[in-house]
Amino acid sequence: MSILVVGASGAVGGAVVEGLVGRGVDVRASSRSPERLRFPAQVSVVAADLRDPESFRAPLDGVERLFLYADVDEPEELVSTIAAAGVRHVVLLSSSAVTFPGAESDFNGARFLRVERAVAGAGLEYTFLRPGGFASNAARWSWGIQRDGVVPLPHPDAVQVPVHEQDIADVAVAALTGDALVGRTPVLTGPERLTLRQQVAIIADVVGRPVRVLEQTEAEASAMLSEHVPAVWVEQIIADWRRAVGTAPAVSDEYRAITGRSPRTFRQWVVDHARLFTAAAR
Ligand SMILES: NC(=O)c1ccc[n+]([C@@H]2O[C@H](COP(=O)([O-])OP(=O)(O)OC[C@H]3O[C@@H](n4cnc5c(N)ncnc54)[C@H](OP(=O)(O)O)[C@@H]3O)[C@@H](O)[C@H]2O)c1
Repeated sequence: MSILVVGASGAVGGAVVEGLVGRGVDVRASSRSPERLRFPAQVSVVAADLRDPESFRAPLDGVERLFLYADVDEPEELVSTIAAAGVRHVVLLSSSAVTFPGAESDFNGARFLRVERAVAGAGLEYTFLRPGGFASNAARWSWGIQRDGVVPLPHPDAVQVPVHEQDIADVAVAALTGDALVGRTPVLTGPERLTLRQQVAIIADVVGRPVRVLEQTEAEASAMLSEHVPAVWVEQIIADWRRAVGTAPAVSDEYRAITGRSPRTFRQWVVDHARLFTAAAR
């Protein structure tokens, strides 16, 4: 029996494939553009689109466990296809947004809740990975840092607990290679609370160049983000920052409990991705 990793081109999905290969598991990797995937020869690569459940029929043949992104607006039909194919266990990349009060009426919380409910409602065994904000969100600052060492932000004192994508992948691999995490919903965060300003300072320290925060209004931030991000996300990102100023978000211990290791720090994430912030990446 195989494990299918959907979204194998993604930061988390790619790390899940690597982790499974390292454990000698029979792994299949899917993408909407499988020709872009570069994995060792033993990984079979297939095409599948979450918005086209039919495209999963062949890739799911003989699959026992599945790693799934939640980027699907109408999950019910997809999940029926997964269940009908005989998949036993789905490990879903969800979000800690589902745990917040009012998640049902929050755009982000509601979309993840819908996928979680579709999976559980289909009678599939599940593990819902519920990460908080990713360290990789800092990649959005790479262009400004490369260009003139500036990060424009409306709420630089917003507090986050950024999580490294490799930590999420480690827990996914643990979930996909045993039954210990069946029915579990681990919330995953990094090990430390950091303001956006502190994250910028860590990047500056790692790349060895001055980087300054330029305070901007929400309107300025909205105009800037809108160049790259859909409108609904622009509002969500800015509102999340606004709400996070002066807070003390929870720091989860679930990564350590599951893997026995310390979660990776934001500094480690920057070291792992330093080329994003240096001129060499241009
Ligand atoms: N950023 C955060 O702070 C945060 C927090 C909690 C949860 N999340 C969730 O985490 C996920 C992002 O993870 P990441 O950083 O690993 O993402 P990423 O590197 O941007 O990769 C996204 C992956 O999703 C796959 N995908 C998207 N739409 C698809 C579709 N219609 N059919 C098949 N595959 C599709 C892509 O596959 P192909 O393009 O190859 O088909 C790609 O591999 C998102 O679902 C996000 O909502 C993010």
